[in-house]
Amino acid sequence: MLKIGFIGTGNMATALIRAIKTDKKYVIIASNKSNSKINKAKKELKIKTTNNKDLVKKSNIIFLCVKPKDMSEVLREIKSSVRNKIIVSIAAGIKISSIEKIIGKNRKIVRVMPNINCVVGEMAAAYSVNKNIKRNDKNIINKILNKAGIALEIDENRMDAVTALSGSGPAFVAYLINNFTNSSIKYGLSKDVAYKLAIQTFFGTSKLLKETKIKPEELIKMVSSKKGTTVAGLEQFKKLKINQIIEKTIKASYKRSKELGK
Ligand SMILES: NC(=O)c1ccc[n+]([C@@H]2O[C@H](COP(=O)([O-])OP(=O)(O)OC[C@H]3O[C@@H](n4cnc5c(N)ncnc54)[C@H](OP(=O)(O)O)[C@@H]3O)[C@@H](O)[C@H]2O)c1
Repeated sequence: MLKIGFIGTGNMATALIRAIKTDKKYVIIASNKSNSKINKAKKELKIKTTNNKDLVKKSNIIFLCVKPKDMSEVLREIKSSVRNKIIVSIAAGIKISSIEKIIGKNRKIVRVMPNINCVVGEMAAAYSVNKNIKRNDKNIINKILNKAGIALEIDENRMDAVTALSGSGPAFVAYLINNFTNSSIKYGLSKDVAYKLAIQTFFGTSKLLKETKIKPEELIKMVSSKKGTTVAGLEQFKKLKINQIIEKTIKASYKRSKELGK
């Protein structure tokens, strides 16, 4: 049995725990600063709880799910007992080298950039590892993270791009869904109907692309008949240069992530 400890039982940790604990081979234990949140996690998730130090002693893998500003305090608290354990940080913008500075270069460290969609088991995450993480450790981490969605390994110097795409992405997609909904209301749909259709269209299109070999360009062709409604709409995308808007969106988010990581 693998023992996985979660330090910090806020939004992200709770979502990850909920997804991971569906696999009975993982034993989960958690700790948190305030009693109210740990009691809530204990009750809702039906997991054992303890303090940070005891959690580290009892776990093989330790997920650090505190805010970036609280990370150094937690690392200093646990550093003496993390030998041979896998430390997994989900804190946005905290580099592996910064973690190594506090707990040592010879410790096993994984840095994950998750996204909010882990709440429904559809996380799009990327992770990077330091040199002490061996193939077997990586397989274990991969399996754990994939319980909450997908997780792909990348070079750490690409993490800002991941932050822009899948970290901030749920907000960009939600923004689009809102606008598709509001624009359709103008032509007689009720808010409720427009919203449900918009969500299902984004969801269904993603599912179609994910589950078939159809490429986005092919799908566009499949839906576009000559002089038809889709072509009329897509012409506006081209005329208003939607591609440039999206390019600028990702660039701004990427640049901000780089600035915050300094
Ligand atoms: N939310 C997202 O979409 C998202 C996406 C990617 C990455 N992340 C990363 O995920 C991490 C967690 O985010 P979140 O949204 O889940 O934050 P959150 O809800 O605020 O959870 C953080 C938890 O850490 C606890 N904590 C603080 N100091 C602690 C300590 N010394 N020992 C034990 N627990 C401590 C807090 O407890 P108290 O409340 O009692 O102080 C809180 O429950 C962040 O580092 C963030 O960068 C979040």
